[in-house]
Amino acid sequence: MTNRYGDSTRSVKAVNSRAIPGQPVVSAPVLASTYHLSTDEAADLDTYGRSANPTWRHLESALAQLEGADSALVFGSGMAAISAVLRVLAKPGSVLVVPADGYYQVRRYAAEYLVPIGVTVIEAGSTDICDVAGSADVVLAETPTNPGLNVVDLHRLATICHGRGASLVVDNTSATPLGQQPLSLGADLVVASATKALSGHSDVLAGYVAGSQPELIAALERERLLAGAILGAFDAWLVLRSLGSAGLRFERQCRNAQALATMLRDHPAVRAVRYPGLSDDPAYPVAAAQMRRFGGLVSVELADAAAVHALVERSELLIAATSFGGIHTSVDRRARWGDPVSDGFARIALGIEDTDDLLADVERALEAPAP
Ligand SMILES: Cc1ncc(COP(=O)(O)O)c(C=O)c1O
Repeated sequence: MTNRYGDSTRSVKAVNSRAIPGQPVVSAPVLASTYHLSTDEAADLDTYGRSANPTWRHLESALAQLEGADSALVFGSGMAAISAVLRVLAKPGSVLVVPADGYYQVRRYAAEYLVPIGVTVIEAGSTDICDVAGSADVVLAETPTNPGLNVVDLHRLATICHGRGASLVVDNTSATPLGQQPLSLGADLVVASATKALSGHSDVLAGYVAGSQPELIAALERERLLAGAILGAFDAWLVLRSLGSAGLRFERQCRNAQALATMLRDHPAVRAVRYPGLSDDPAYPVAAAQMRRFGGLVSVELADAAAVHALVERSELLIAATSFGGIHTSVDRRARWGDPVSDGFARIALGIEDTDDLLADVERALEAPAP
């Protein structure tokens, strides 16, 4: 879809259904495991729910439009999409680079399932991914990274990968296609969790792959059919229903993130804050060049684990929860999950609350005397 529209317009247009007089404006989920067969056995019709579903197609068309891709394929979760891509691209004997500072379960998948079949897996941080990409067959980059919010220069990385014939896959979960379009910066494929800001209500898990190389998309569709990590039709509909308001929600989340990061940067209880939209953040120059919006995540370092727990307990608005992109502002102490961060490091995922209410609440919760 053209970028001449704003984010909310793009989100609404992406989920539009065909205007047929007398038909509902919104589409209903097609909850079918099997379809009537034709006597014409060569007819290109839906046959079975693991290979195709009209609700998937509607959602896939919307996601492809937002990512600026020719096609998208939906999967049962972000990890289902990522692991399908890695199974298709990272063959035994190949060299795969995964983010050392990105979503931890991707590294676990590579170590537990790809290393044993003969894939050489290199873990590279955002600052050195461009240096190691020159010796890889497949590079998976994540930007901004979850949870550290480092940013990778995608145009530079794509140039290095393509110079050697390597494939570049970009995890676009934290930025969303409303925040950046990795395909336009040279990525071969985008993968993402739609569990986060695109669905945005903390009530569904989903993932997708988007790209414009027909052979690659066909291989991934085949993988989905055979491995079976499909998205339920009702869940596809939930994502589609939510996607129309993604522009509105993400705009507020990003605004809240920018305001909170600005406030936290000067707060005495805060040891460090990271947000790619802060002009003095190390990620800012690249982020400003390649992102349309800086995202809804802020990383903060408090004194210790007790300080993170106290922040949530004293607040009236924050909830303690993992995941991100939902309507509530949530706090996740990442050392709990084994991320290589300090005990007082928390990822704050901004919700859609009013900005002033949120700032006042967090300031109060940080300043309150110990109970
Ligand atoms: C950056 C990133 N990629 C992928 C995933 C996996 O998504 P899902 O939980 O939908 O499988 C997550 C989940 O938090 C994530 O943060």
